[in-house]
Amino acid sequence: MTALFTPLTVKDVTFRNRIGVAPMCQYSSIDGVANNWHMVHLGSKAVGGAGLIIAEATGVAPEGRITPACAGIWNDQQVEALIPINRFIHEHGSVAGIQIAHSGRKGSSATPWDGGAHLENDDGGWPVKGPANIPFDPDGKRLWKTPKAMTIEDIKTVQGQFVDAAKRAIAAGYKLLEIHGAHGYLLHSFFTPLDNNRTDEYGGSLRNRARMMLEIVEAVSRVWPENLPLAVRLSAHDWIDGGLTEDDNAQLALWLKERGVDFVDCSGGGATPAARSSVGTRTADQITIAAHIRKAADIKTMAVGCITEAEQANRIIESGMADIVLLAREMLRDPFWPMHAAKELGVDHKSFMPKAIGTFV
Ligand SMILES: Cc1cc2nc3c(=O)[nH]c(=O)nc-3n(C[C@H](O)[C@H](O)[C@H](O)COP(=O)(O)O)c2cc1C
Repeated sequence: MTALFTPLTVKDVTFRNRIGVAPMCQYSSIDGVANNWHMVHLGSKAVGGAGLIIAEATGVAPEGRITPACAGIWNDQQVEALIPINRFIHEHGSVAGIQIAHSGRKGSSATPWDGGAHLENDDGGWPVKGPANIPFDPDGKRLWKTPKAMTIEDIKTVQGQFVDAAKRAIAAGYKLLEIHGAHGYLLHSFFTPLDNNRTDEYGGSLRNRARMMLEIVEAVSRVWPENLPLAVRLSAHDWIDGGLTEDDNAQLALWLKERGVDFVDCSGGGATPAARSSVGTRTADQITIAAHIRKAADIKTMAVGCITEAEQANRIIESGMADIVLLAREMLRDPFWPMHAAKELGVDHKSFMPKAIGTFV
């Protein structure tokens, strides 16, 4: 069996192969509630053969969304809508995961196809919060709201929202939980020195800046079932001088591992407008960082960024750079990528494809 198609068992969950669908905002929810779009978007990847499907950044609170059209997991109606999607994914042999998130100072934005600018409060937007009262892009042409620097009470409230979201993720049937600690959103903005100038216990040293994320992980791991995997997505490099490096993130990965985290999903960028985008063309560098963190912290990693070819993906797993490869844009192009990769690598695709497809193609 090729490395890419060798199953992986973590705790009580077996991934049928090492191919995962990266979390991708769909900007297609109403009041945070999933609908048929999400069933088709996520369900098609299960039918296509992925081993893991991580649902998009899902707000732990209304103001934790990026846009008003983003997904949410702060009420029971949202949970009810997610249950059949996860049932479908599991019926088709894939593992359903969810990324729970708080957008922080990058929230209250329009959808990308409407330009992505910050929305005024009377135009569907909301006041934003962050570690400090520094806007994402103080000098940019595009308006970014000035966030309110969070009080300790605000911090505790958000931490509680992550715990409630984790409980709802269990009720919705997810088997893997990922905490979004990347791309300049709330948890990353606490961790990076570029966005956090606090002078209390949540700012200053690396350990203090990690406190927000570590306390959330500690609290979440108390409610998330011990037999199910827990992941954290990091911006494993800030891609700019004065920002976080892979060594800072290897240290954070060690602290996360001590608190029960099974996977670090190694993305990058997003802390400042000058830092390289998480969807840039040079994101391939992140794969070597996933390898660095895997070795330095002795933790499982997910590699993501410009993975498009079967041989490339297989090499990443075979050479021990990561335990799972995540594909984002390539899965939008081709939800049947795992089937095509299997054919290319000489793996029997009929063994994992639904009979209604595998029998005929
Ligand atoms: C449409 C779209 C939506 C995305 N939404 C998220 C998201 O919700 N959470 C996240 O952590 N990353 C998000 N990303 C980043 C991807 O998960 C991934 O890290 C990035 O696209 C690089 O992978 P790729 O080269 O395979 O596209 C998104 C990317 C795209 C293209």
